[in-house]
Amino acid sequence: MSQLENKKILLGVCGGISAYKSAVLLRALQQAGAEVRVVMTSSAQAFVTPLTFQALCGHPVYTELLDPEQEAAMDHISLARWADMILVAPATANFIARVANGHASDLLSTLCLAATIPIALAPAMNQAMWNNPATQRNIDTITRYGYRLWGPDEGDQACGETGPGRMLEPETLLRRASDFLKPGPLRGVSVLMTAGGTQEPIDPVRFVGNRSSGKMGYALAEAMRDLGAEVTLVSGPVSLNPPSAIDICTVQTANEMRDAVMARVEECSIFIAVAAVADYRPASVAAEKIKKRSDSLNLELVRNPDILAEVAALADPPFTVGFAAETEQVEAFAEEKRRSKGVDMIAANQVGTSEGGFESDRNSLTLLWEGGRESLAMMEKSHLARQLSERILKRYQLERGVDE
Ligand code: PMT
Repeated sequence: MSQLENKKILLGVCGGISAYKSAVLLRALQQAGAEVRVVMTSSAQAFVTPLTFQALCGHPVYTELLDPEQEAAMDHISLARWADMILVAPATANFIARVANGHASDLLSTLCLAATIPIALAPAMNQAMWNNPATQRNIDTITRYGYRLWGPDEGDQACGETGPGRMLEPETLLRRASDFLKPGPLRGVSVLMTAGGTQEPIDPVRFVGNRSSGKMGYALAEAMRDLGAEVTLVSGPVSLNPPSAIDICTVQTANEMRDAVMARVEECSIFIAVAAVADYRPASVAAEKIKKRSDSLNLELVRNPDILAEVAALADPPFTVGFAAETEQVEAFAEEKRRSKGVDMIAANQVGTSEGGFESDRNSLTLLWEGGRESLAMMEKSHLARQLSERILKRYQLERGVDE
């Protein structure tokens, strides 16, 4: 069976000379088993007619946002919900700028804004336009929003110049779509995670907190999702964009995080605790803002519940992965935590240094499990998360006797 069998793909076509190749891509996707619907921008129609795509795909092509007839057939929100993914090929500099700025000025940009499914863009433009700092800033923005970027390729361009900006060939885009949509090894497996730091109120305006940005946890949630898992993320306050196709529950305090986790833990097969949970909270929370009436102020702190230890101690616990944030004797303290909390695997990181750990975009980890260890070098948290997700998958399969 083809990897695209029964997959639903919304093919967006923007106005560029490579729009003619999108017709070839449409045929290739269909031949691989995908069901495809086409959305064209108005400038795309200056290069290829909607009739070409309609004849190939056997369905009307969607072109208008406010056309009562098209909306009656399938309104734009239903269209965004119908698909497994949106692939925009070619994606012009103008279209990338529109989605980077959250525009809903035509049907295709509106669909992208309304979509909760993965979106891949295959850029196609002149090399100078691609290299322009404004385009690069937009690319940076949409990548952070979770858009996948397939291409561009380098080489001769239709305008006679040479450089980056060519749309990837249809067969390459077909391969990317097949790889992307193939069922992941964790398909159907429910993963519960915590991320970010907790905030423990002192009074209505102050709290005890820590430096966790949520970057490591969010990156790992996305990596687990990309392996096919159904991910629920219980997150402390962070200023990150919510990742697509991940169920997010936001909390503030350790007690709220504990309750949110315990309410969901029975359904999950894997629990991963990345959150920097405050170990202590103020014994009482002042109803009004505390005034500075004396030279010193004593705060009495009481212990918070240890969420990871509580999950690992359940009668029928999920496969549990903890993190250990240490400033010294990283491996020794992490191993002590692994044993005392009774978790299957712990990912230890050095914190309090200039690179890695809290807030940084990069990190390195030492993974420890019963009878084994592995070091993952300093790298971008997104890459590190992918490597870690594969190690978690392997240990989960080995320890739970799950077939690969
Ligand atoms: O968010 P970033 O800025 O990207 O930074 C990432 C990170 C440094 C926060 C992350 O990589 C990390 O190390 N997370 C764990 C931080 C931590 O609180 O470690 P710990 O050694 O204090 O706790 C050990 C484990 O027990 C952790 O899995 C923690 O989630 C869990 N725990 C701790 C206390 C508590 N009350 N409940 C818990 O579940």
